[in-house]
Amino acid sequence: MKKLALKTQFRLGTGLILLVVCIGTSLVVYSVGKQQVEADIYKETEIYIAAVEATRTYVKDVLRPQMYALVPGDHFIPEAMSTSFVGREIMGRVHDRFKNFRYKRAALNPINPINKADTIETTLIARLNDERGMREWSGLIERDGRSFYARFRAIYAEPECLRCHSEPAAAPPAILARYPDMDSDYSDRMGQAIAADVVYIPVDIAFTKIKRQAWMTFVLGGGLLFSLIVLFYALFNYTVVTELKGLLNNFKKLVGRPSEHSAPADIEASGGTDEIDQLKDAFSNVAAELQQTHEELKASESKYRRLFESSRDPNFIWDMGKRLIDINEAGIQMFGFEDKAEALAIETGHQLFWDWHAAAILFDTIKDQGFVKEYEISLVNRWGSRLDALVTANLKTDENGTPVGFEGIIRDVTDRRKLEKHLAQTEKLAAIGQLAAGVAHEINNPLGVIKCYANLIYKNTADIDQVKEDAGVIKKHTQACSQIVEGLLNFARVQDTHKALADIHAGIEAVVAILEPQFRKRDIAIVRRFAADLPRVLVDEEKMKQVYMNILLNASQAMDQSGEIRISTSVDKADNMLVVAITDTGAGIPPDKREQIFDPFFTTKKTEQGTGLGLSISYGIVKEHGGDIRVDSTPGKGSCFQLMLPLERGGMH
Ligand SMILES: Nc1ncnc2c1ncn2[C@@H]1O[C@H](COP(=O)(O)OP(=O)(O)OP(=O)(O)O)[C@@H](O)[C@H]1O
Ligand SMILES: [Mg+2]
Repeated sequence: MKKLALKTQFRLGTGLILLVVCIGTSLVVYSVGKQQVEADIYKETEIYIAAVEATRTYVKDVLRPQMYALVPGDHFIPEAMSTSFVGREIMGRVHDRFKNFRYKRAALNPINPINKADTIETTLIARLNDERGMREWSGLIERDGRSFYARFRAIYAEPECLRCHSEPAAAPPAILARYPDMDSDYSDRMGQAIAADVVYIPVDIAFTKIKRQAWMTFVLGGGLLFSLIVLFYALFNYTVVTELKGLLNNFKKLVGRPSEHSAPADIEASGGTDEIDQLKDAFSNVAAELQQTHEELKASESKYRRLFESSRDPNFIWDMGKRLIDINEAGIQMFGFEDKAEALAIETGHQLFWDWHAAAILFDTIKDQGFVKEYEISLVNRWGSRLDALVTANLKTDENGTPVGFEGIIRDVTDRRKLEKHLAQTEKLAAIGQLAAGVAHEINNPLGVIKCYANLIYKNTADIDQVKEDAGVIKKHTQACSQIVEGLLNFARVQDTHKALADIHAGIEAVVAILEPQFRKRDIAIVRRFAADLPRVLVDEEKMKQVYMNILLNASQAMDQSGEIRISTSVDKADNMLVVAITDTGAGIPPDKREQIFDPFFTTKKTEQGTGLGLSISYGIVKEHGGDIRVDSTPGKGSCFQLMLPLERGGMH
């Protein structure tokens, strides 16, 4: 069945309610009116019944005894002695004045047939007899096609009644003479209701009036209510529906916009012309769309959250006050936080930067430009270590374009930067090496010639001291030049490398054996902390001796007077490296020089004391072995040089 439009439903419903209210009110008016009429009539009957009762008792108690005293014993004058007669007569006269009621003394077995109870009355007298204690009955009855309110008051048979109402033979002759056919013997019905004073008051006119009133109520009330509803409806249409139409148009525009979830036809198709119906459908559509959008939003939110959380690069969000408001797992790990809560508890995002001033510049740049791409900056982790990082970030804005924070990605490039530095160092060394090799080669020959001639001069001028002395100076300096050239050639790795499995301790001991006497003179102690059972390694022992020599000499030269040089060996299992650490108690290396010490010709020593090639050659040799040299130094306290040599897989014994 086609569903009715909301407006029609509303109209039908209102009509039904109106009908029910009108019928209900009319019924109430009718029933209240009827009750009122009955109550009024009951009061009226009270007067008539009282009049009858008064007449009857007067006749019975006063008049009849007086009459008995005046007339002979068997004499009976109904006009003065019969309660029925006198009652009927008096009530007949009252009726002349008040036509609106009827009185009857209805008896089951009267002397005067006029008083004979009809069927209804007989039934009611019988009922008064059946229900003991019930003296009266009143109610509505129908007779002769009319409605009456009737009131029955029982009259009981008493011994005194038997004077007339016994066997006809015993009845007073006056009565017998008047009613020769009488048969009104109540002798065996003592105490029973044998008659009733009945008052009838017609009610049909009053009831018709009440009915008319009820109808009037129905018609007038209905009309009034109907007009009111029509007025309300018109007002509702004028005010609310106009607004609803506007709202509906907005909805149509909203839902009518091309969207994958709803078609503009949805609203029109749903409910014909009823705005409320259309609005209801529009609401349902919008609610469904909202629900769908909400779910999509949730899905996309969780997708982006997953993306944010699972990114291998640290992701972060800061608010405008530079407070960290979100960070992913990679970020937590990079900075060394225990968990996200600890990361978010830091007071300001600046604390994550090595240089707060640089951090402020970074944030200002993002604010000004709206973003930064691979901005190089140093960060600091929980343990105070410096991290080189590239920051790509942008300014976060709300829907009005107001900045609300910063979001972006950090790329940790610490290892890459280290590698680049090493590469640069290696490249630099290789270039210098090539240059040095060329120069050394060129210088070597003339140097040989100079040396040769200096020797000749020295030998051939045995008598001239001055010349001999000068030739000696030439020889000495030529020797020094040869050393430099040799060093340069070493540096340039022109010498072949002969690797063999060797005991590192033996190589160190060979060098120490040469240096120790010298050191002892200067009160420099050598302390050995050799690891037992150190694996043998594949090295060019001679070249490695040069390395030990250079580093030990540097250590001794770093100490003014006495001191201690500790040589320790160990295995770094994590990196699978053999470590030779040479620690001195010398002057240490200032931080600004630390970068340069491996540069060829970098020296802080006097010309005769150092060429500045020692460490660069050592570095070249160790690199040739696939190893590395690490330096740790505290100015004023000493330095530690660690030679890292790769072990064969599993170590070699
Ligand atoms: N153990 C050390 N303590 C303090 N400074 C050192 C130490 N080792 C090296 N240096 C510094 O590094 C510089 C370079 O050392 P390198 O061995 O390369 O050259 P050199 O010792 O000066 O000269 P050469 O080794 O050629 O005689 C040194 O001049 C010195 O300033
Ligand atoms: Mg040196």
